[in-house]
Amino acid sequence: MNNFIFSNHDTVELARKYGTPLYVLSEDIITSNAEIMKNAFEKCNIDYEINYAGKAFLTVAMCKIIENAGLSLDVVSGGELYTAIKAGFPMERVCFHGSNKSIAEIEMAFDYKVGKVVADSEYELGVLDRIAEEKKYTPKVMVRVSPGIEAHTHEYVQTGRIDSKFGVPLKLMGKVLSDVCKFSNLNIIGLHCHIGSQIFDEKPFLIAAETMLKLMKGLEENGFEMKQLNLGGGFGIPYLKDDSVFDIDEYVQKLVEFAKDKCRELGLEFPKLLVEPGRFIVGTAGVTLYEIGTVKEIPHTRKYVSVDGGMADNPRPGLYDALYHAVVANKMTFSDEDEELVTVSGRCCETDTLITDVLLPKCEAGDILAVLNTGAYNYSMSSNYNRLPKPAVVLLKGDKDQVIVERETYEDIVSKDRLPNWYK
Ligand SMILES: Cc1ncc(COP(=O)(O)O)c(C=O)c1O
Repeated sequence: MNNFIFSNHDTVELARKYGTPLYVLSEDIITSNAEIMKNAFEKCNIDYEINYAGKAFLTVAMCKIIENAGLSLDVVSGGELYTAIKAGFPMERVCFHGSNKSIAEIEMAFDYKVGKVVADSEYELGVLDRIAEEKKYTPKVMVRVSPGIEAHTHEYVQTGRIDSKFGVPLKLMGKVLSDVCKFSNLNIIGLHCHIGSQIFDEKPFLIAAETMLKLMKGLEENGFEMKQLNLGGGFGIPYLKDDSVFDIDEYVQKLVEFAKDKCRELGLEFPKLLVEPGRFIVGTAGVTLYEIGTVKEIPHTRKYVSVDGGMADNPRPGLYDALYHAVVANKMTFSDEDEELVTVSGRCCETDTLITDVLLPKCEAGDILAVLNTGAYNYSMSSNYNRLPKPAVVLLKGDKDQVIVERETYEDIVSKDRLPNWYK
């Protein structure tokens, strides 16, 4: 077979059947990634919880996959929470996150009795407490800490630095929690931190664990016993052929041994450990299929291969120089002489480069380009820039394929437009 096969499906046939651009997602790969992470924790014989970070990719069908895989769900907005509600996701397994939650969102989270809320600031603890009192409901709350750790990843996705909008600065935690007695309507069960995304080095994760355990001990000495520690997500996945693979098994083992040692040293009871992976669960489970249109060669300069999507369906290259690999799905067998270095351009009215340099077999209009590992932060970050309808999402499971998000139509694009009275 000359075509690119993804999760046992011929991607050229998928492109023909559903049109392009097309997000393709494999349930089998998502489930396998979830299993890898669960097994890593199971082996350590500890109390743990894996919260899938819905921001990476969330639809009603995805909630079902996550529920069946036995994971919990981290949501960061009323929209993500509503998706989980629509899917009938068990609310006790939902953790409500977000750096500036609205009052309406907090009320919604309490009304639906989500399992946990992560408070992002002292101000928010006060708001949560007030709403909890009004609703006569005592939510389980974790407090997000900004641990002051620099992870080796793009600065836009470093979220645990001192200079960060997220979480309570480490140095202020003592003060914030000494005020905790003010928050008598909250059940504060633990601490949270998330140091960044697409991290391959395990060292910053271990430093974060140590920092947080010391903080927990300090707080315990001041009468605030915490039983749960959420170390966030951020586990890197390979985007390019030569990228390394984050060995989750080895990492979890190291983390647990390290944390057990630290707890022993500190005289702290080993807490329940939580993680919040998004990319690790869904990133490798997706590919995006495009049809190639214009191929433009600028002599001695560059060859541009244009596709029928771009920054509207994948803003990551433009946002933080994210790198991707691609293949020509209908030309999987070719000789080295047929290969050429090209730049893959999106169709939007910006530079809109999807991949700066990639070796591809000679491309022609009508070829199908498959950009790999687009499962995370592509559909969820997509926009209607240039009034482009969003692509459909097709889910693969075994030999089955089915649309889980319909392709938008031009009518969808104008459906929320209204003419003011003076033009009617
Ligand atoms: C608080 C929090 N948790 C989890 C995640 C998921 O990160 P990743 O997809 O890199 O695992 C993010 C990503 O931004 C985050 O901000």
